[in-house]
Amino acid sequence: AETRPDPAALLAWYDRHRRRLPWRAEPGERADPYRVWLSEIMLQQTTVKAAGPYFLRFLERFPDVGSLAAAPLADALRLWAGLGYYSRARNLHACAQAVAARHGGRFPACEAELLALPGVGPYTAAAIAAIAFDLPAIVVDGNVERVVTRLFALETPLPAAKPEIRRLAGLIAPEARPGDFAQAMMDLGATICTPRRPACALCPWSEPCAARRAGTQETFPRKAPK
Ligand code: ADE
Repeated sequence: AETRPDPAALLAWYDRHRRRLPWRAEPGERADPYRVWLSEIMLQQTTVKAAGPYFLRFLERFPDVGSLAAAPLADALRLWAGLGYYSRARNLHACAQAVAARHGGRFPACEAELLALPGVGPYTAAAIAAIAFDLPAIVVDGNVERVVTRLFALETPLPAAKPEIRRLAGLIAPEARPGDFAQAMMDLGATICTPRRPACALCPWSEPCAARRAGTQETFPRKAPK
């Protein structure tokens, strides 16, 4: 039986079942780093469903990073109203200005340079590198943690398991299509490999999934007692 999760199986699943999201490029379309960045900042503390309308309003008022950089901070804050965590909106504006000033209005295609921008942490830098620029960055969010700990039935509890999860996520990543792979992992976690009652019968990786084999999928990820 197959033991190592094959990235090609996940990518084939993604090609059929990918979610259509307002910030996502259609197949064959080039990703817009500005949209990827804006969406990832919004999605840090906001659900996909709630972020959608905000994202579209933002894009209408500020269609590119230059227009956001040139606008008064108060305009950005007003459009952000309701999303909470207003430091995110302040950093958003500061980041747009940094991209305009340091990088000529284009997001840098480099994880380290992305990480140096205001409000861009390790997760966001990796997500932009992979999704916007198709660079082989390892993107680990809560969805990916759940998928990976189940695939390998990883007994180490969170948060101690994070370095091991990162290593395993790198192990199963393909050389081609890193951006699609990152988004496929997120979609799998959001729609199939859910926290409760995962839909293993529909999962492209049910065969190689160690937790599924043991029938313990719902018990991962393990968590350290609070
Ligand atoms: N959650 C965070 N980033 C996401 C993305 N790019 N697609 C879907 N869900 C996400």
